[in-house]
Amino acid sequence: MNWDDETATAEERIVDASAEGDDQAVEAALRPKDLAEFVGQEKVRQQLDLVLKAARQRGATADHVLLSGAPGLGKTTLSMIIAAEMNAPIRITSGPAIQHAGDLAAILSSLQEGEILFLDEIHRMSRPAEEMLYMAMEDFRVDVIVGKGPGATAIPLDLPPFTLVGATTRAGLLPPPLRDRFGFTAHMEFYEPHELERVVCRSAGLLDVAIDPAGAAEIAGRSRGTPRISNRLLRRVRDYAQVRADGAITREIAAAALGVYEVDSRGLDRLDRAVLTSLLKLFGGGPVGLSTLAVAVGEERETVEEVAEPFLVREGLLARTPRGRVATPAAWDHLGMVPPQAAGPGSTTGNGGTGQPGLFGA
Ligand SMILES: Nc1ncnc2c1ncn2[C@@H]1O[C@H](COP(=O)(O)OP(=O)(O)OP(=O)(O)O)[C@@H](O)[C@H]1O
Ligand SMILES: [Mg+2]
Repeated sequence: MNWDDETATAEERIVDASAEGDDQAVEAALRPKDLAEFVGQEKVRQQLDLVLKAARQRGATADHVLLSGAPGLGKTTLSMIIAAEMNAPIRITSGPAIQHAGDLAAILSSLQEGEILFLDEIHRMSRPAEEMLYMAMEDFRVDVIVGKGPGATAIPLDLPPFTLVGATTRAGLLPPPLRDRFGFTAHMEFYEPHELERVVCRSAGLLDVAIDPAGAAEIAGRSRGTPRISNRLLRRVRDYAQVRADGAITREIAAAALGVYEVDSRGLDRLDRAVLTSLLKLFGGGPVGLSTLAVAVGEERETVEEVAEPFLVREGLLARTPRGRVATPAAWDHLGMVPPQAAGPGSTTGNGGTGQPGLFGA
């Protein structure tokens, strides 16, 4: 099994939740700067607000914070907000950049008092670095190893108090001793459509694009619960509105623009729809094995499994069962098709001819 986030991406997808292409430059401009500006995630915002306010009142550094959640939900944004709210400088690094304990020691020993250390993709740090981090987080101390072999000595080094902000898309991969050393863990959820509407309106304001509420709702509904996707779709819709219309975004303009990019009303793209369509049209809604489905779609098995399926499962359009992939009633509904077993009483064509009642049988 491959746990690397970077694999299995078939092509650049407009609905991909990870940052790509020109996202990074634009995102910097669209990032909310403080907690009040940060849309949604009500619970996380309240909890974090308390943690930070309390630390400020005590004149202390805040507890270490772990941000966990899917790509594009605002982890990097929140880390910068934490620094802004604490009025502290922030140092940014990531797990893959720290391969040796020495790399981490160098960063830790150069931190200023109260500084925020943002460690992105913390689940991808090397083992020795991780162990050094345990001690640094708990005792604000590291042992720097000098020399090699039997003559090596550990020189203890005191660190100024700092706040570690770790971010991960895979909280489950964090070893428990590391997870336990965070004073506060924020679980970021996918956003509700009405929250994404606010994200879209806010970004449109910053980009100086006219948009009406229905246009914002149309983009929000196709954004897969992810602000990064909202912002990307908004930029594509802005292009369309500028070239094909008077620049203002309405529901019709948004729907037409996203039609051009093959993002449908639920945020499915060409690949997602191809998987669903094959499942329904060729296999009567399943169950069908992953490899067979992948061949039918003309994609790699991994592409179907890791790129298309997670969202289809999350949306309740597809289920993974021991007997294979199965379409849910919502899938039939979304593609405007009628499941065979619902064709009428006495129908014998139901369920792809397996003769068994469907998993979601009438
Ligand atoms: N709550 C929010 N309100 C407004 N905009 C947001 C919010 N969360 C995220 N965004 C926007 O979405 C974009 C992506 O957010 P961010 O880079 O923080 O995601 P991330 O969780 O760090 O993703 P990754 O896992 O890929 O690192 C940013 O440009 C930011 O403007
Ligand atoms: Mg990030």
